[in-house]
Amino acid sequence: MIENTLWHPVAQSHEVLQDTPLSVKLLEQAVVLWRNAEGVAQAFVDRCPHRGARLSMGRIENGNLECPYHGWQFASGGQCVKIPAVPDFVPPPSQCVKSFAVQEACGLVWVRLQEGESASEQLPAFAAEADEHLRKVNCGPYDVAASAPRIIENFLDMSHFGFVHEGWLGSRETTAIPTYKVEPTATGVLATGCKAVQPQSNLHSTQAAEVEYTYEVTAPYAAVLTKIPEEGTSRQGWREQIGLFICPVTPDTSRVWFRLAVADFESSDEQLREFQHTIFVQDQPVLESQLPKALPLDPRAEMHSAADRMSSAYRRYLKAGGITFGVC
Ligand code: FES
Ligand code: CO
Repeated sequence: MIENTLWHPVAQSHEVLQDTPLSVKLLEQAVVLWRNAEGVAQAFVDRCPHRGARLSMGRIENGNLECPYHGWQFASGGQCVKIPAVPDFVPPPSQCVKSFAVQEACGLVWVRLQEGESASEQLPAFAAEADEHLRKVNCGPYDVAASAPRIIENFLDMSHFGFVHEGWLGSRETTAIPTYKVEPTATGVLATGCKAVQPQSNLHSTQAAEVEYTYEVTAPYAAVLTKIPEEGTSRQGWREQIGLFICPVTPDTSRVWFRLAVADFESSDEQLREFQHTIFVQDQPVLESQLPKALPLDPRAEMHSAADRMSSAYRRYLKAGGITFGVC
């Protein structure tokens, strides 16, 4: 499964602690996250190699992860360093629990289950992260009963605004989607010139405005929306971005975060999250109603309109990349 060689977000950095392990699931694999004495995040298979107990039910002792059942301790990287029932025994290198590679970025902990080397196996790009003129706030997690590709496709889709987000991102009076450009990139797909009239395009909108976006798929389960600055607003000049980062938990369920990178330094984190939350809880019930749960990659499986060119390009990209998790 190619997805195993990609980096996926599994938790927010602040949730991974030095005193309590955290249980997560990625691509149906149970994973335990914890932090060693140096503060470096660790990810292990959440199953003790001794008698199969869940390591995430254990605790962290002297910078090692201790199994809840017989107290075996595992150090960073997975080596067993202590078997309390045989105190003088030094466990050999073969006595270890499988550990996974971990990185932290965008306030999230990223894990990959298998080594891989191609460019598409880097963390998904999020250019706004490096821009100090933009403030970053994470929103989520949302546990959604939908496949990761269905959630990405919803994020790329402007033609639902007038219906799902009526009075917010769209209205039933302005539903036409002007032609936009779609092109492949080295790591995904880019749509430019996406325009819509939005009654309430952000927290500060006081009147309807025509907004322009670009949408970029940056990895199979990651996408970035870039707001092209509006003329005549106090916030013009900054290319605000919203990253959508999804943990594919099972083929039918996902954990979702949004990374907001905004020029608004006055509003509270809660106010910024509240707007994004309002929008996403409008999407969630429709997303969870879609059948099949898996995103169909056969172009004949669902019907399309000219407004769906980005979604069709995303499906072709998943197919060409050999993605199998969450698609059919
Ligand atoms: Fe983990 Fe025995 S099952 S120490
Ligand atoms: Co929506």
